[in-house]
Amino acid sequence: MVRRHAGWTHRVKVTLHRVDGEVTLDVPPGQSLFQSIAARHRGLITALCGGCCVCGTCRVRVLGGDPGEMGPDEAHLRRQLAITDPAIRLACQMRPGCGLRVDIIQPE
Ligand code: FES
Repeated sequence: MVRRHAGWTHRVKVTLHRVDGEVTLDVPPGQSLFQSIAARHRGLITALCGGCCVCGTCRVRVLGGDPGEMGPDEAHLRRQLAITDPAIRLACQMRPGCGLRVDIIQPE
């Protein structure tokens, strides 16, 4: 695999697990997981702040694969929201790597 400074140089496949089955999508280089989901599967994920790393509603549970590195903004919001489970990530901040598999967590 080849990485650039800001992320992958090619599309990566991501599998979303849902109660009614799985959805597979390609995430282009530089695009967040949230952007890719919202572009192709409108309404599948909640993101009240629109991807600005403020609300925490875009949570996913990482089931496997490469979720990408966690940046300081995501780490900061996770601390504010007391998210301690390392498998829980914010889709709007994720630049996923190969083979990522996630569950979308619907906000309560
Ligand atoms: S969409 Fe609000 S934190 Fe991700």
